[in-house]
Amino acid sequence: AEQNRELREKLLRLKKERNAIILAHYYQRDEIQEVADFRGDSFLLAQKAAATDAEVIVFCGVHFMGESAKILAPNKTVLIPDERAGCPMADMVNVDGLRKLKAQHPNAKVVTYINSSAEIKAETDICCTSSNAVKVIQSLDAEEIIWVPDKNLGHYVQQHTDKKMIIWEGYCNTHDMLTVKHVIEMKAKYPDAEFVVHPECRPEVVAMGDFVGSTTAILDYCKNSPAKRFIVGTEDGTGYQLRLDSPDKEFIFATKFLVCPNMKVNNLKKLVKCLETMQPQIYVPTEVADKARTSLERMLQVQ
Ligand code: 13P
Ligand code: SF4
Repeated sequence: AEQNRELREKLLRLKKERNAIILAHYYQRDEIQEVADFRGDSFLLAQKAAATDAEVIVFCGVHFMGESAKILAPNKTVLIPDERAGCPMADMVNVDGLRKLKAQHPNAKVVTYINSSAEIKAETDICCTSSNAVKVIQSLDAEEIIWVPDKNLGHYVQQHTDKKMIIWEGYCNTHDMLTVKHVIEMKAKYPDAEFVVHPECRPEVVAMGDFVGSTTAILDYCKNSPAKRFIVGTEDGTGYQLRLDSPDKEFIFATKFLVCPNMKVNNLKKLVKCLETMQPQIYVPTEVADKARTSLERMLQVQ
C-alpha cells in the first residue's frame, strides 16, 4: 500500500510534466483503473484519444487499442505500459486471407471489429466495437458484409440484421472459455441473479443472457436494474466499475477463467515507468495509418 502511494504520487507529477492523459480499459487491474483519467470500453477510449488536447496518451489496454489511438491522433506520443499486451483475437486474421475474401466478394463491404491490427484496418471500409456493431452494419448501403475477426460477435450481429454476413473464424480466448455448463451451475446456485453477458461469448451462452451487451452496456444495465445479484459473463476487470456504481449489489463472475491475461500484463509500476522513460511507444507506419484512419473515423461518425 505504501509503495502504491509513492507510485501514485510519482505518476501525478510525471503526468503534469509530460502533459499526459491516462486512458484505461475496464479490463485493466484495479490499481490502474484507480489512477486513470478516463475508464472506458474500447469505443469510449477511442473517442477520448481522438479528442484529447494532451500531448501524450498513455493507453492502458492491449496493443490494438494503443494503435487505434495513434492512428486517430498521429501527432501525439502514445505509450503503453507493456507492449507484450497483445490480443490473440486480433492476431487470428491476416491480410492475405482478408484480401482473398475481398476478391471473392467484390460487392461486400468489410466491417472490422476494432480488435484487429492496423494492417487489417487499412483493408477495411469501417470499424466497429461491440457497442455499435449493429448500428455500423445498418449504416452501410451494401447487402453483403465481410466480418472480421470475431465469429461470436458476428453471429450475434447477424441475428439483428438481414444483410448477408461472411464471418471470419476468430474468437476471444477469454470470453470463449465460458460454457453453457458454467452458466447452468451458476444459475442453479443463484436463482435470483440476472445473467449479463458480452457478445464475445459463444452463441449458446449468449442465448442464455437476461441481458446481452458490450462492456459499457452491461455496466449501464446493472446500475439501473432492480436486481440485487448478477452473474457476470465478461472479463473480471469490470468488477471494479460494477462495484463502484452499485456497492449494494453482488457481482459473481460466471467462471474464474474470465480473466484476460493480456490485459493483466500491465500494472501500476509499469505504467509509472513508461511515463518516466517515455517507452515503449506505439508506432504505426504512415501509409498504414493513413489507410486505417478512414475506417476508424467512419465508425466515430456513425450515430
Ligand atoms: P469492449 O470494451 O468494446 O466491450 O470490448 C471488449 C474487449 O474484449 C476488449 O478487448
Ligand atoms: Fe482480446 Fe479477449 Fe483480451 Fe479483449 S478480452 S483483449 S478480445 S483476448
